[in-house]
Amino acid sequence: MKSLKMLVATGLIGAFMSIVPGTTGVLAQEEGVWSLRGEVALNDAAPLADTKKQNTSGKMGRAYRQQPPLIPHRMEKYQINSKVNQCLRCHDWPYNTEEGAPKVSETHYFNRNGVALDTIAGTRWFCTQCHVPQTQARALVKNKFKNASEVD
Ligand code: HEC
Ligand code: HEC
Repeated sequence: MKSLKMLVATGLIGAFMSIVPGTTGVLAQEEGVWSLRGEVALNDAAPLADTKKQNTSGKMGRAYRQQPPLIPHRMEKYQINSKVNQCLRCHDWPYNTEEGAPKVSETHYFNRNGVALDTIAGTRWFCTQCHVPQTQARALVKNKFKNASEVD
């Protein structure tokens, strides 16, 4: 009985430690590791991106063949939630032909088991998980990234 109480207590302390905001942040900072969110606690909202900086003049190329293409137009007004996806009214077939928009890739109609569907796969529903607006942004961390076409 005693050991069971001990177990429960240890479990509670563990759970408590993991929900105290900043506990892991402090540890990470001491080790010199920084989150790309900066010093914003997980349960606080990070500052909104400056959408005015979005680059909507032409298309930036893809850095490698399989890269999800960047979004070359404004998109902050198109809602995506569990019921509605406004990107599809232009990018899903057959609307894409009416709107003159590129059709979502054929790969987006296959579910995770490789079964071809007639509608967009659930795994591709939240477009902005992979497709992000174009911007001439400064690199978040110093790096030596090269486009696949530039690698010797
Ligand atoms: C009103 C119609 C419309 C809506 C809504 C729309 N798009 Fe587009 N989208 C376009 C058109 C037209 C183009 C082609 C623009 C060009 O070639 O410059 C395009 C281009 C793109 C491209 C580039 C494709 C490529 O092959 O380079 C991506 C990615 C994209 N849109 C994603 C999205 C996402 C994600 C949403 C929702 C947040 C969205 N679009 C909503 C019309 C739309
Ligand atoms: C899991 C990541 C992911 C999600 C989610 C996703 N895409 Fe894509 N998308 C990609 C990748 C990777 C490519 C390029 C490779 C390919 O064609 O599959 C692509 C290609 C595209 C293209 C270019 C098609 C072409 O033939 O050049 C368009 C347009 C597009 N996606 C729109 C969308 C829209 C709209 C949504 C939301 C309904 C969406 N994608 C969701 C990863 C994703």
